Amino acid sequence: MDLLPELLILSSLLCSVCAQAPVVSVEPRTATVRQGESASFRCQLGGGAQPVQLEWRRANNQALQENVKVGPGGSVLTVANSRPANQGQFRCVASNSAGRGTATAVLNVKYAPKVRLTPAGPLRVRMGDAVSVECRASGRPRPKMSWKRQGSTLQLVTKETNDVNTIQWAAVHPEDSGVYICQASNSEGVTEVKVDVIVEGGLGAPVASVSASEMTVVEGNMVTMTCVASGSPTPVITWSKLRAPLPWKHTMVDGVLTLSRVGRQDSGQYICNATNLHGYSEAYTQMEVESPPYATCLPEQVRLRPGDALSVQCLAHGSHPIGFKWTRVGQTSLPAGAESTRDGKLLIARVKLSDGGTFKCVASNHVGSSEALAEVVIKREFLFE
Ligand SMILES: *[C@@H]1O[C@H](CO)[C@@H](O)[C@H](O)[C@H]1NC(C)=O
Repeated sequence: MDLLPELLILSSLLCSVCAQAPVVSVEPRTATVRQGESASFRCQLGGGAQPVQLEWRRANNQALQENVKVGPGGSVLTVANSRPANQGQFRCVASNSAGRGTATAVLNVKYAPKVRLTPAGPLRVRMGDAVSVECRASGRPRPKMSWKRQGSTLQLVTKETNDVNTIQWAAVHPEDSGVYICQASNSEGVTEVKVDVIVEGGLGAPVASVSASEMTVVEGNMVTMTCVASGSPTPVITWSKLRAPLPWKHTMVDGVLTLSRVGRQDSGQYICNATNLHGYSEAYTQMEVESPPYATCLPEQVRLRPGDALSVQCLAHGSHPIGFKWTRVGQTSLPAGAESTRDGKLLIARVKLSDGGTFKCVASNHVGSSEALAEVVIKREFLFE
């Protein structure tokens, strides 16, 4: 088994003389072209035993694209009307009986930017919403991107990451409505893509306002509530009452609501609604109808003997709070020992003969007052009962 060294010597002798693997190079090693131009690479044989077979492949071993042709004999590779997808490495592979040799060429295809917006628009957004639009650009050399507004040369502040440039609003305003342009540029050209941003609920949308947001009126009076609205087209104004129909006696003319004789049941919230094709707007008026007190005494007449207890209640209807005040008609003060309570009672624990007379209750609130009389008769004996 000492044959091995001899074999090695023999084979190296043989290869140097007769069977050498091919040696290849490509010319040029790198080519840079514009989109649409053509490029050629020649594969040159530097040595090796004939016959040698030449073959061109893509570096990733994919098939050559249909605009890539290899000339007769396999040495020249031509990329006609090159496109961005042709960018990459091409490998020349030479093979003969002794082995293979390879060399690699690189093709760069420059092209003007291609731009895509997400979402593409037009964008209809509501006032106050958060909005963002991503601009993605490809191109060679790598494009520079910027956003601007149509009609303005000012570059907008945007968020930029890799090949995405994002324009964003935390909350859009009506005046943000407009056409925005993402521009991507490189040595091969400038590409612009536009997006229309429409902020709804903005310009032209109704804005209603009422002359008073709160009102207090006295029962029986006439009341008018006025609502005006801006907007284009001119909004249509209607009035309604929260959780109730409008009072029966009302008129509505040009945003003015008139209630002819208000009652306490008409108290509540009134809603003005201004509507046009852009939307609607509501404004509110809270109305309280107040009524003056109406007082009565219970009882209206009392007959007592000296030593009896007196108790008369003054009652009053009307808006609260209601205060009560008892006086004695024709006298400057109540009898000694008389007491009047906050809720309208007149009390005397033990009446005397001199305590008789006419007592007056005045009930009052901030709208008005009302009085009622109570007759107190005190006798030792009531003869004709
Ligand atoms: C106001 O009008 C709009 C549109 O017609 C409607 O959707 C809304 O409910 C109205 N509001 C009231 C309180 O009637």
